[in-house]
Amino acid sequence: MDVFETIATKLDVKNYASKHVPDELKRKILESARLTGSSMNTQHWRFILVQDATNLKRLASDSTTGQWVANADFAVIILVNSKIPGSYLDGGRVLQDMQVAAWGYGVGSRLYTGFKEQEMRRDYAIPADLKVEAVLGFGYPAKKVIGRKNRKPLGELAFSEKYGNPLNLK
Ligand SMILES: Cc1cc2nc3c(=O)[nH]c(=O)nc-3n(C[C@H](O)[C@H](O)[C@H](O)COP(=O)(O)O)c2cc1C
Repeated sequence: MDVFETIATKLDVKNYASKHVPDELKRKILESARLTGSSMNTQHWRFILVQDATNLKRLASDSTTGQWVANADFAVIILVNSKIPGSYLDGGRVLQDMQVAAWGYGVGSRLYTGFKEQEMRRDYAIPADLKVEAVLGFGYPAKKVIGRKNRKPLGELAFSEKYGNPLNLK
C-alpha cells in the first residue's frame, strides 16, 4: 500500500481478533513514533507499551471512553510534556504516525482520550511532569473493515486563496 492508500483506507478499529501482533511489528509501530518530528525536536513524548492482559483490563477500567481497550492485543499510552508549546500537536502527529504505520501492516487501532487521571498515574507509574495525551489500542481487526468511511466532501473543507472561495484544481 502506498501512503495515500493507507490513509484513504484506514479506519479506527476497536474490535480485535485474538491473533497476536508479532513483536517485530510492535517495534516498528514504536519506531514510527520515535521517528516522528516534534516541536523544536524536543522529543518530549514518552510511550508505555501495555500488552499484559491484566494491565489491558486495568486500562479499560481506568478509561471513561475506551473500555474496548480490554480486548486490544496491545496498547500504547502516549505521554507528553504539556509545558512544551505545541505538545498537543506533537501528540496528534505521533499517534497518527503509529496508526498509519500499523494499518500499512494490516494492524488496526483506535485512540481514546477519556480516562481517570489519578488512576492512570498510579497504575502506570506516570511521572508528574508528563501528561497522558491519549491511549492507542492495537490489534488485527476482528473482521474486514472496508467502505464505511464517513467524511465531508473536499469542496466543503478546502478553499482557494481565501476562505470560502471554491477549490480551484483541475
Ligand atoms: C482527538 C480524538 C479523540 C478521540 N477520542 C476517542 C475516544 O475517547 N474514544 C473512542 O472510542 N474513540 C475516540 N476517537 C476516535 C474517533 O471517534 C474516530 O477517529 C472517528 O470516529 C473516525 O473514525 P474512522 O476513521 O473509523 O471513520 C478519537 C479520535 C480523535 C482524533
